[in-house]
Parts: sequence; structure tokens; C-alpha cells
Amino acid sequence: MAATSATFRWDEKEREGSISLSEVISALSFAVELTDGTVSGHALRSCLLGMRIAEEAGISAEERSSLYYALLLKDIGNEEMVGLRCDRGGNIVSKLGMGDHAAEAVRNLEEHWDGSGYPNHIRGAAIPRLARIAAIAQHLDMFSIGRNPEIAIETLGEWSGSWFDPDLVKVALSLDREDKLWTNCRATDSHEQTRQAVLDLDPRRSQPLDEEQIDRVCEAFAEVVDAKSNFTFRHSMGVAELARGIAQNLGLAPDRVRLVWRAALLHDLGKLSISNKILDKRTKLTVAEWKVIRRHPGLTRKILEQIGPFREIAIVAGEHHEKLDGSGYPNHLTACDLSIESRIIAVADVYGALSEDRPYREGLSYGEILPILNSLSGPKLDRECIQALLVYLRDYRPQDIDPEVDADGQLSRYCA
Ligand SMILES: [Fe+2]
Ligand SMILES: [Fe+2]
Repeated sequence: MAATSATFRWDEKEREGSISLSEVISALSFAVELTDGTVSGHALRSCLLGMRIAEEAGISAEERSSLYYALLLKDIGNEEMVGLRCDRGGNIVSKLGMGDHAAEAVRNLEEHWDGSGYPNHIRGAAIPRLARIAAIAQHLDMFSIGRNPEIAIETLGEWSGSWFDPDLVKVALSLDREDKLWTNCRATDSHEQTRQAVLDLDPRRSQPLDEEQIDRVCEAFAEVVDAKSNFTFRHSMGVAELARGIAQNLGLAPDRVRLVWRAALLHDLGKLSISNKILDKRTKLTVAEWKVIRRHPGLTRKILEQIGPFREIAIVAGEHHEKLDGSGYPNHLTACDLSIESRIIAVADVYGALSEDRPYREGLSYGEILPILNSLSGPKLDRECIQALLVYLRDYRPQDIDPEVDADGQLSRYCA
């Protein structure tokens, strides 16, 4: 059986491993590419194709570094709102400090050489060069349907001068002729091979992320998850703040608090692969739709597990819908499987979710949430974690607390 948070032990060597930005991004960015548990790998292949064209076109190393991150992050955001997609990808890129060039490339990805693109109908050399390269790379992968490059190459030539920059098209075509374009992007190449080839190209491979930078990457991805649906706006950030408050109140060591913070930020990452038609549905979900929803914690774990040093975060985050009595999902784990870190996030998630608006109901008030927490405390949710949450709310969010409920003695019952 797979490890649970309570049984997980680090292999010391593994724990020491450093993390590069590309490792985190390449793992997290295909959260948006996951459908039915398989990864399309589009971002990775676009990255390889674009970087080869850029090198051949004589683009400077510094600009290539921007292009690298732009290509990996270009599709982040809501696929169903393509117009917004450009902006969101761009924002993430600049937030992670990957330079304005990268953000600019993502924002201008859908512009066409002849001015017929969007959002600003700019044309020719006015379109940033990295965006022109990224557009070609994206096209090549999307049109090599079934990983057959012929159609992609043919259409690239056809649309040279209308959609694409003719000089860059020439570069791509000559790389294709010399058989230097498609290495690790073919149907016969495994996902792992492709990912490894991308990691090998990482311009910052020798600069592992420090702890603060890792936090920032987790925060940026929490924003991506939250932005997917209007109803989960700030959910991940909110849950992370509550979870950190609980962890600190329980006296966890600083490195454990940090683990809780990161796992809480990323707990709903698997939701990126669920359609908004289901997430935003105002009426009752069908059995089939529930099945899809119930897959998200497992996907969260699967995505995060690809980052070696995130293995424990992956397990903790993947358990956020488990309940102490085995009634949770996806694995019906019970109290002995669930670590304190995972129990903390489960409590923070329930409080966060109840306090937020949902498509089918408005957010509940503190006075309405308390009796619900009360009924879950013990059999399903950890009593001490709930107590620590209420102390946190009393000390740091007095504005959220309804004084009448307090006067009722419900809070003092927990905080006594
Ligand atoms: Fe969830
Ligand atoms: Fe959640």
C-alpha cells in the first residue's frame, strides 16, 4: 500500500535534494494538461521545439532563458477562457521573477505576423520576438497530431508571413530538414524522456531555489488554482493561512509549519484538471460528476510526487479530504494513517470551504459554521486542530467572529 502521511519516512539522501525552478514548474504546469490521469506533455514539447529554434536563430542566452519559462508556463490559466489565459500566464511568469521578456512573450503569444491575431492586433516585428518563437513552437506541437510532424511542418510553411514570422519559419524548416527539430518530441519518446530533456536545458539548473523562492512558487500556483473558478477565489491562500495559524498554535516546529503552508497552498492543485462545467455547476452534481471531483486529491498527489523533495508535501496534500473515521476520500484512510499536518489541512479546508460562497449556496457565517465543526469534531476531524483553529480566529480574526455566538459560550467551550 502507498505511504500515508503517518507512515511516511524520508530516505535521508533524498531529503537533501535541491530543487530547480524548472523541476517545480515542469511538474506543476502539467496539472493543466492532465486529463483522465494522463499527461499530454504539450508544454514540455513546446519548450524543446522553441528552444531549438531560438538557439538556431541566434537568440542570446539571457533571452533564451526567458523563453524557456515562458514556454513552460504559457498555458497556465483557465483553458476555457483563452482570452484571459494570456494574461494569467504572463502574471505568473513575472511574479516568479523570470523577467519581463518571459511575461511579454506569454501575453503576445496569440498575435499574428499580419496583425490578425489578438489581443492587440499588433503585427510584424512589433510582436516581441520571443512571442513569435513561442507561437511557432506551440503550433508545431499542436499540429503534429498523433506526434506526426509532417502536417505541422506543412502548415507552418503555408502560414509563413500570415500567422508566423517568415524568417523564423525558415529556421524551423531548416532544423526539420537536418533532423534536429523533433528529438524527444516524437510519439516513441516517453513523457519522462521529454521531461528530462527539458530539465537538461534549464538555464538556471545550477541555481537551486532557496526556501523563500520555493514558497513563492507554491503561492503562485495557489493563485492559479484559485483563479480557475470565481467560487474558489482565494480558497487555497485562505486555507493556507488558517492551516499555518493552527500549526503555530499547536506548537509545530518551524519546518513542519512550512510543510503545512506549502501543502495547504497546493492541496487543490488536482482541480486544475477538472472542467469548470462541473466546478461551477449550480445544481446537484450527478454521480459521474462526483466521481470526477473525487479524483482531485489523488491528482494533487500525483503531480507533486514528481518533485523529489516534495514527496511528503504530496502525501499530506493528497489527504485533505480524508476523515478520521474512514468516511473521506479518495482512500478511506483512518486516524492511524493521518499525520497532524494532514489533519490540520483537513480542518482548515472545511472551515475555508464553508465560509466561502459556492455555486449552490452563499458562504456561511461563523455562527453557522461552529455547530457544523462541532458535529465533525472527534469522529471526522481532529478535535485539537479545531480547538487551535478557534483560538487562531479569536486572536487574529476577531472581525470574523460573531460576538453573540461567542457569548453563547460555544467558543469558550473550545478555548477553555
Ligand atoms: Fe479539495
Ligand atoms: Fe480545498
